[in-house]
Amino acid sequence: MTFAKEIACPRCARRFALNQLLNLCPCGSPLLVRYDLKKAAAAIAKASLAGRGANLWRYRELLPLEDDANLVSLGEGFTPLLEAKTLARECGVQQVWIKDEAQNPTGSFKDRGLSVAVSRAKELGVKKVAIPSAGNAGGSLSAYAARAGIEAYVFMPTDTPTANQIEARQYGAHLTLVDGLINDCGRIIAERKAAEGWFDVSTLKEPYRVEGKKTMGYEIAEQLNWTLPDVIIYPTGGGNGLIGMWKAFQEMEELGWIGSKRPRMVSVQAAGCAPIVKAFIEGKETAEPWPQAKTVASGLRVPQAVADFLMLRALRESNGTALSVSDDEMLAEIPRVGRAEGIFFCPEGAACVAALRRLIPQGWVKPSDEVLIFNTASGLKYLDVIRDNLVNK
Ligand SMILES: Cc1ncc(COP(=O)(O)O)c(C=O)c1O
Ligand SMILES: [Zn+2]
Repeated sequence: MTFAKEIACPRCARRFALNQLLNLCPCGSPLLVRYDLKKAAAAIAKASLAGRGANLWRYRELLPLEDDANLVSLGEGFTPLLEAKTLARECGVQQVWIKDEAQNPTGSFKDRGLSVAVSRAKELGVKKVAIPSAGNAGGSLSAYAARAGIEAYVFMPTDTPTANQIEARQYGAHLTLVDGLINDCGRIIAERKAAEGWFDVSTLKEPYRVEGKKTMGYEIAEQLNWTLPDVIIYPTGGGNGLIGMWKAFQEMEELGWIGSKRPRMVSVQAAGCAPIVKAFIEGKETAEPWPQAKTVASGLRVPQAVADFLMLRALRESNGTALSVSDDEMLAEIPRVGRAEGIFFCPEGAACVAALRRLIPQGWVKPSDEVLIFNTASGLKYLDVIRDNLVNK
């Protein structure tokens, strides 16, 4: 049972019926699912969630799937919110939480979006899906498509971490390595999808992955007893997570589950690919494509994002900020936070820790703040990247 009622464009306000396969709005904007939150508020008591399964489908009514028979799940979501006492002490802040997304079925937060998108694709009769991926999303789609009995076509840059390439093939996906970046992979899919009959599940080019990602926002509130931290630091590529959480906070307020207080959202990018940071600093509403994008944090190697304006809007509405950190800072942070907290961070997650260490002396994060950082994937997915960088040093 879902309270989803329609799909709407956040740019031109055009509305669409739910029961159709959709990609972008004709105006070029991503589309977002809207719910009947009044009815949902009357039907769901937030206390009743406590007895539900420890996965993201605990927010079932606020996800866009009609029939449970189409639900494709591997137990994704409801990841632990871990207290980082040593890191907090080192940084001199009152409280640091780590949302550990490494503990998802394929080792990254991409499972959230792809569980929901593949379930909905199955419901709408899709037989073949295609994805351009910086790495983790390709592996994740391969797993969920296998479970759904749908064929997956995955396009990754040739220098994507080995684990992502191997896992995609082990799940039976058709993997194509592309001599280029994620946007080049996306272009190939756009050119071929009509002839091949592929449903394109590129980041924010269909309205369901972001629904899965928004559950990070619901979980943070539920795990903090329906409060939100002062600051959320998030590694930003295509923007699914940032936009999804911001949507979740709005929905939860309308449901009467939380108040109007919002965290200040921080977007972290890599110095070698920081289009959102640049646009934020320059006060722009959209971002320019980043030339020659280069970083070891493959998930952050996104030179151009279709949802740039939604990310920038969320950052500004939240009184947040955006900053970039170097690859050296990220790589130095992995063993440092590993020793401090016993968590093997991915480079993207380590970028959040590096950002936190920068924001404190700047006074942007205050000692009294409660800060939440994301570890978006397991460091185990990046063994080759970490080894090669150790060898090179
Ligand atoms: C580990 C990791 N962190 C962060 C990101 C960026 O995520 P988003 O698309 O939600 O901005 C990615 C995307 O590929 C990723 O794989
Ligand atoms: Zn539109």
